[in-house]
Amino acid sequence: MAGAIIIYESKYGNTRLVAEKIAEGMRQVSGVEVEVRELKEINPGGLSEFDAIVIGSPNHMGNATRSIRKFIDGLAKFSFEGKLAAVFDTCIGKDFEKAVKKMEKQVGEKAPSLSLAAPGLSVRVEGMKGPIIEGELPRCQEFGIAIGNRLKV
Ligand SMILES: Cc1cc2nc3c(=O)[nH]c(=O)nc-3n(C[C@H](O)[C@H](O)[C@H](O)COP(=O)(O)O)c2cc1C
Repeated sequence: MAGAIIIYESKYGNTRLVAEKIAEGMRQVSGVEVEVRELKEINPGGLSEFDAIVIGSPNHMGNATRSIRKFIDGLAKFSFEGKLAAVFDTCIGKDFEKAVKKMEKQVGEKAPSLSLAAPGLSVRVEGMKGPIIEGELPRCQEFGIAIGNRLKV
């Protein structure tokens, strides 16, 4: 069994829903186990037991939330040799992929031992409180399947 954890922050529930859809996709791949956890529940010291760490944030002012950025900074203290990572965000259309690109860069700088399992996923919402734009959720599931498949090889 390969084990993964999806860590997210979410004020209005959009990013939580994306996290759950990604987990659904990952669970479709046999041999993959997934936990979904809010950032505040996480003890970074326990993360090395997972084969993949997936991090999700709403776009706040063109970036990941302050807590998510702080969390990624904190990964620098640990070694993740041979482990995978992936990131996702939710945003309003104009800032599509803006936060994920920054998150990927930050993960690369702070935790260079993590390899990216898939390009970051950016998910559009209709307004601050959502809902997620129609047609976006299947992309979340596909993203999960792609990570799951990377975990198996
Ligand atoms: C304080 C704040 C700042 C935001 N800034 C941006 C922004 O710069 N660009 C953008 O696309 N969306 C921005 N948003 C919209 C959020 O990305 C969007 O509402 C997101 O889906 C919320 O996720 P959540 O439901 O998981 O909290 C902002 C939302 C909040 C609350």
